[in-house]
Amino acid sequence: MYSQYSTKVIEHFMSPHNVGSMVDYDGKGTYGDSNCGDSLTIYIKVKDNIIEDISFLVFGCTASIAASSMTTVLAKGKTLEEALKITEQDIVDALDGLPENKLHCSNLGAGALKNAIKDYKENKSKLG
Ligand code: FES
Repeated sequence: MYSQYSTKVIEHFMSPHNVGSMVDYDGKGTYGDSNCGDSLTIYIKVKDNIIEDISFLVFGCTASIAASSMTTVLAKGKTLEEALKITEQDIVDALDGLPENKLHCSNLGAGALKNAIKDYKENKSKLG
């Protein structure tokens, strides 16, 4: 059933990292794919411009769960500027590839992460 996926994808699907919602988040971002209906929410906690904690909740397919998990692994400990540079391709590469028809699943991770950082910056500017 999973033969189309790399070992990394299977690992992150079976044991996702940083899964769950976060109550005291500093930024929260959601990104969905209207074609398949899958949706990801990422929560971040930021200290001294660094993503010190991150978690996610996803409603989606095997690849989206693995890609969401990998996105959090790539972003944790990064500065906001570094995290904003994480691309869909970075996520795909870190997963040792995704099948052609599942490449779009990596969009969720990159999109939700960017939206969470945007939300953090907006929240921060409101606080002055
Ligand atoms: Fe759409 Fe995976 S099938 S995110």
